[in-house]
Amino acid sequence: MSDILHNPDLSNDWDRTGLPAWSFFSEEMLECEKDLLFRRHWQLVCHVSDLRDPGDFITLDVVGDRALVVRGKDGVVRAFHNLCRHRGSRVVAEESGNCKSVIVCPFHGWTYNLDGTLRGAAQPKTLPDLDSKEYGLKPIDIDIWNGFVFVRFLPGPQPSITKILSRFDEELSQYRLDALLPSGDGFHATELDANWKCVRDVDNEGYHVPLAHPGLQDLYGAHYYDEPFQDGTSRSFAKFNEDDGRLWSVKNYKNILQAPEYLDAEHKDAWLYIGVFPNLVFSLYPDSVNFYQEFPREIGKTIQRGGTYRLADEDRRMKLARYLSGRIDNITSKEDEQLIEWTWEAAFSSGYDGVILSDLELGVRSYHDILRQHFPVLNEDKPSEGKLASRNKALLNGGD
Ligand code: FES
Ligand SMILES: [Fe+2]
Repeated sequence: MSDILHNPDLSNDWDRTGLPAWSFFSEEMLECEKDLLFRRHWQLVCHVSDLRDPGDFITLDVVGDRALVVRGKDGVVRAFHNLCRHRGSRVVAEESGNCKSVIVCPFHGWTYNLDGTLRGAAQPKTLPDLDSKEYGLKPIDIDIWNGFVFVRFLPGPQPSITKILSRFDEELSQYRLDALLPSGDGFHATELDANWKCVRDVDNEGYHVPLAHPGLQDLYGAHYYDEPFQDGTSRSFAKFNEDDGRLWSVKNYKNILQAPEYLDAEHKDAWLYIGVFPNLVFSLYPDSVNFYQEFPREIGKTIQRGGTYRLADEDRRMKLARYLSGRIDNITSKEDEQLIEWTWEAAFSSGYDGVILSDLELGVRSYHDILRQHFPVLNEDKPSEGKLASRNKALLNGGD
């Protein structure tokens, strides 16, 4: 058994199969995933530093739901459905910006205060009296963890993000996440031609690093290890290789990086990844903190979104280091995009016969195990047409 997993107890007879092929192609499965996972689990929107002034807002679309996060005049950050109470238009069209002291719906001009209450309808005499609270923007659950703002569209099974990530408190506290600042590059989003679960399947293992990611291999290939999902979170740690690096970006990155003195020796020359079920990864570097997440659009189309935050005390040298780590990451993402699309394509082949996972891909299985808890239907043959949601519900309620 490889000790790279830090899991000496792992026996050889764990289930090395993946998800059933039908789960990638089923429209009914996708609808269930939207409802049970994406709407009912915390979704990262931004960092409070993206919302510096009253009226600053960020919007995020997730499987048909739309979040608007805005800082009020009182300094409080609130989250609402980006949904006008008149006829359902977006009240804010842009991804980010400042709406001054009032949110004006672009359809007919109803206005809302920054705390969500209705300020006024356009031509109010043509409407009955409208209570400002009752007809205010609908709030959604919000949770702020170390400055990172999460929303949840419907009640769900997860505890607070603070609780979910508490096992990493000690390790993460040294990164001073509260004080991070936006990189200034906004959020990036890419559409991938694959089912969203293919993105997770590629991302949840480091077995492919030596061949598929020359940059990462050059940076930390000798020391990378994954810790599979446990209570909804995973951890991967990658201490840099001892040598100077061979590739241009890696060599220069290692040369230029002077890690902050507040990071301990273990983390000064390492990249740390923290995964949060179902669709989020933080990557914590000595020069920056990044996140990426994915949302399904269709069974074969997925949006991958991400952002980068810089250190509060970033100097020119650290900025250059951040540029170089970003360069390594951009190349890695392109490499992963290809692997994700090949993973998706594989299932269309008449010769495709499922997968067999290596010990170094236990992270994939550990993620599937959580999915299977939410979707016990994954342990069965494809349910007959129109029956997936009800079958899953019956299984969740203890039926057989
Ligand atoms: S839909 Fe917003 S004002 Fe009409
Ligand atoms: Fe990868």
